[in-house]
Amino acid sequence: MEKEYHKKSEEKRKEFYYDVRDNYNLQMNDFDYDNYNDEWIERASYLIFLNKTCFNGLFRQNKKGGFNVPFGKYKNPTICDSKNIKEVSIALKDTEIFCADFSEAEKYVKKDSFVYLDPPYRPLNKTSSFTSYTKDGFVDDDQIRLAKFFNEMDKRSAYIMLSNSDPKNEDPNDEFFDELYANYNIERVPAKRHINSDASGRGEINEIIVRNYH
Ligand SMILES: C[S@@+](CC[C@H](N)C(=O)[O-])C[C@H]1O[C@@H](n2cnc3c(N)ncnc32)[C@H](O)[C@@H]1O
Repeated sequence: MEKEYHKKSEEKRKEFYYDVRDNYNLQMNDFDYDNYNDEWIERASYLIFLNKTCFNGLFRQNKKGGFNVPFGKYKNPTICDSKNIKEVSIALKDTEIFCADFSEAEKYVKKDSFVYLDPPYRPLNKTSSFTSYTKDGFVDDDQIRLAKFFNEMDKRSAYIMLSNSDPKNEDPNDEFFDELYANYNIERVPAKRHINSDASGRGEINEIIVRNYH
């Protein structure tokens, strides 16, 4: 796919991208997610291809669960970085990955576990829609539910770190996270945002890091 893509003009690359995206979305419905077969290799290739050639490497789905990120204009993207894929595979050799609501992680957290929470960002302003990564969305009630989860894991003496956007970038009086995490260390760190169509939101803005340890 990489070789084919690189040979094409921008217009043809775009067509190729949307063909792959269509195939990826069509495959979703009658895919056998339980029993390993050759189709898994094909699906993984589609996903890597889309991730490397879509707009800003975003992963976003529509309400039906279809991948809907538009074409990204890159001159010479590395699509199949086999060295990196192999290294990641080695790094994850003894790792189990679960895809579920964060509350399901509760049963794996013990004293001295390290827990990093990287939830969908709380939108920086009312028009920002980047909390809707997936068909399920992640609203303020979920942020509150996550803070309760943070408290529970803290009681178990796990080490917990959470990151999020800082609502104070937009509204200095917004105390949403300061109140939710009042009992913990809150640090504000400058971060660069790649994704922002509104120029006022570009450049250096703060993100917050919350920890229950020093
Ligand atoms: C900011 S991204 C995390 C990015 C990740 N740390 C990385 O480097 O690729 C937020 C993630 O939270 C996931 N998410 C949304 N709702 C969730 C939920 N209820 N429980 C667990 N994860 C959820 C989204 O699918 C998304 O992948």
